[in-house]
Amino acid sequence: MKDAILRYDGREYALPVVEGSEGERAVDIANLRNDSGLITLDVGYQNTGSCKSAITFIDGDRGILRYRGYPIEELAELSTFPETAFLLIYGHLPSREERAVFSQRLTENSMIHEEMLRFFDGFPLTAHPMAILSTMVNALAVYYPRYFTDDWEVATFDLMAARLISKIRTIAAYSYKHSIGEPVVYPRHDLNYCANFLYMMFNSPVKPYDMDEDIVKALNALLILHADHEQNCSTSTVRLVGSSMVNLYSSICAGICALWGPLHGGANQQVIDMLEGIRDQGLTVRKCIEQAKDKNSRFRLFGFGHRVYKNYDPRARILKDKLDLLVRKFNVKEPLVDIALELEQAALTDDYFIERKLYPNVDFYSGILYRIMGIPSDMYTVLFAIGRLPGWIAQWKEMHDTLPFRIGRPRQVYTGETLRSYVPIDAR
Ligand code: CMC
Repeated sequence: MKDAILRYDGREYALPVVEGSEGERAVDIANLRNDSGLITLDVGYQNTGSCKSAITFIDGDRGILRYRGYPIEELAELSTFPETAFLLIYGHLPSREERAVFSQRLTENSMIHEEMLRFFDGFPLTAHPMAILSTMVNALAVYYPRYFTDDWEVATFDLMAARLISKIRTIAAYSYKHSIGEPVVYPRHDLNYCANFLYMMFNSPVKPYDMDEDIVKALNALLILHADHEQNCSTSTVRLVGSSMVNLYSSICAGICALWGPLHGGANQQVIDMLEGIRDQGLTVRKCIEQAKDKNSRFRLFGFGHRVYKNYDPRARILKDKLDLLVRKFNVKEPLVDIALELEQAALTDDYFIERKLYPNVDFYSGILYRIMGIPSDMYTVLFAIGRLPGWIAQWKEMHDTLPFRIGRPRQVYTGETLRSYVPIDAR
């Protein structure tokens, strides 16, 4: 591979070019500062690769997403969420035996420490479930204080990963039960991952939950579609925080906090708020589009646009089909579905959105699907976190498996005051 040449101040610097397995090329600038005194500046990391990774491939122009080489369309249709989690973390589809061991580990770790139940009593009923989730996940470090970063035993990592994947679902369901003032429902060993979550969310001693296979399948697909998305905001957070060698629970807690924001995973809740605004506040689809285009307003068309996809997000396409299936099966009369379809059509034919290649992203239809499942809107981002967890764990593991290991530490271009002397308060 030819080097890239940088000419600066009468000198030339040869910068090695590295190539990925799908032909993506990057200029390696690791020695640039030592050689030339220069650093690179890329606010928002629009064009900066922070690592090499073998987990997820995205081609944003062609709308392609693959986990470990497998197309997302095949996984969403044919795999299960725990199997996809195994694939992401360990790099291959599990054998029968590996799958059985992994499932058993998830089952054995599905309860949370009974003492942790008391935490829920301390949260106000109005607490946002994302705040509860991040707190509880960090608190796992208190109750399970054996960290892979102390002993580097593979078995410790395996246990921590299974604990997180299994317990996050229990914590999420318990936070919902707490918010509606109902007793928690313990997990069952005979239900699969998604059915167990729905059971813990919606079963009650006075009204048993009527499990529907298509709802379970749709949830399974939703979680798979969210399971990884290479170096996005929350995943980069997990890597950066984890690069200090803090434990996995705390790294994941940081990822949950990053995900909560409305420009990232929090967009799924915002989409529903936006659609409800159109339904309830007389805001028309046209007005909504105009507001999203107005540069003097902070409003954006939530569920639209993506840093990487400059084409229809493949995840949104699959979710639209799932939504269609559930709407027909349950004869859903939900005005938000019609508003969403109208809004999508209006945006896709508007010059502003066409020129900027803004298409629906994963968050545009996921909220409506969750709504049909009976999940309240403040839980949508929690569902995103449950789905994204295996990806965060896989990326954290990959980072720690890559030697030599380095702490993440970007640089900056300082633009503040130059040296000046302290002035005592009476002389100011
Ligand atoms: N509505 C209106 N205008 C938009 C939107 C939108 N949703 N998204 C981008 N634009 C405009 C933006 O104003 C800019 O216009 P201009 O070139 O005139 O300044 C242009 O499109 C490029 O946008 P950008 O902000 O430079 O793009 P970005 O890569 O920094 O941001 C994004 C990506 C996802 C944060 C952004 O598209 C957005 O805010 N979308 C709405 C929030 C959302 O749906 N987030 C979920 C993303 S998918 C799930 C996930 O992975 O988190």
